[in-house]
Amino acid sequence: MLRVGFIGWRGMVGSVLMERMREENDFNGFEPVFFTTSNIGGKGPETGMDIPSLKDAYNMELLFDFDIIVTCQGSDHTKSVYPELQNMGWNGFWIDSSSALRMDDESIIVLDPVNRSVIDEGLRSGIKTFVGGNCTVSLMLMALNGLFKNKCIEWLSSMTYQAASGAGANNMKELVAQMIAISDVTREKMNDLASTAIEIDALVTGQLQSLAFPVSQFGAPLAASLIPWIDRLMDSGQTREEWKGYAETNKILNLEKPVPVDGLCVRIGAMRSHSQAFTIKLTRDIPLNELTDMIQGGNEWVRIVPNEREATLKELTPAAVNGTLQVPVGRLRKLMMGPEYLTAFSVGDQLLWGAAEPLRRVLNIIIEYLS
Ligand code: HSE
Repeated sequence: MLRVGFIGWRGMVGSVLMERMREENDFNGFEPVFFTTSNIGGKGPETGMDIPSLKDAYNMELLFDFDIIVTCQGSDHTKSVYPELQNMGWNGFWIDSSSALRMDDESIIVLDPVNRSVIDEGLRSGIKTFVGGNCTVSLMLMALNGLFKNKCIEWLSSMTYQAASGAGANNMKELVAQMIAISDVTREKMNDLASTAIEIDALVTGQLQSLAFPVSQFGAPLAASLIPWIDRLMDSGQTREEWKGYAETNKILNLEKPVPVDGLCVRIGAMRSHSQAFTIKLTRDIPLNELTDMIQGGNEWVRIVPNEREATLKELTPAAVNGTLQVPVGRLRKLMMGPEYLTAFSVGDQLLWGAAEPLRRVLNIIIEYLS
């Protein structure tokens, strides 16, 4: 029976992965073993089957014995363990949520509703390293796959509205702590019907600018504000998050002629769903109804939201999408710049399609390939 090792299953992406695997009854047909960096001998997650106690995630001899290793532990662990396993001549499959190996020539970025043929070809040619993509890129490709498949995109600009979860679990908590700090100073005025919005705003602004406001994770207020910077500066002037748009899109699609992708990435006060506003330069003038059909045909999770207020408010927001696999695409219309310019808006849960779901699915694809 195949032996599958899971590392980093307790963190945010790992626990969403475990939840999805339980929901889909994936703990079947292989022997799962769970690893830890801090609790050797402890109890693993609920899988519906008997599992051994937690093993040491740095024990190379133990790891060497596995056919497949799935890790959500993060780049540092990957960088410490993966090269050593390779040096030892390990021949197993490595499935990784971190970015450590994403741009390696010997790895494939996985998003099977979009690049199943690239994954299958990789398996046939002996690739053994499969890495989840950047969440913003994966969600953009889930939304616009129909246009890429039909080769309609000359270039693409994505302006993002990224949720706190993309920065990590502590950041999500800090966002809520910021909301609490704001409600603490405004509660009295909010309960006074005679108070004005200007008075309340003065209290909110005073709190945002106070030294006591909790910003240790984000470095700035996010609640009642936004942060137009994600990750570190690159030589190009892009942030690394913006740089990934072009690099990862073209690697995932394995395009002969790369499609330019660029834009600004902005952190906003959503919890776990990223949103993106697209400006798309089409390769030719295509009627809007044909473009809509293509987008709808991209995959079974895309849902077109009519360009109407009621539908948009109901279906095209982080609040509506959080915790679901749906990828709504709306606000579709041609821009004033000309008939070859399309705009669209999309939302997706960055912990599901943006992180855990492609890993869950590629694990199943590899198990099926090996059976
Ligand atoms: N880097 C992304 C973000 C999340 O900061 O939102 C992970 O892909």
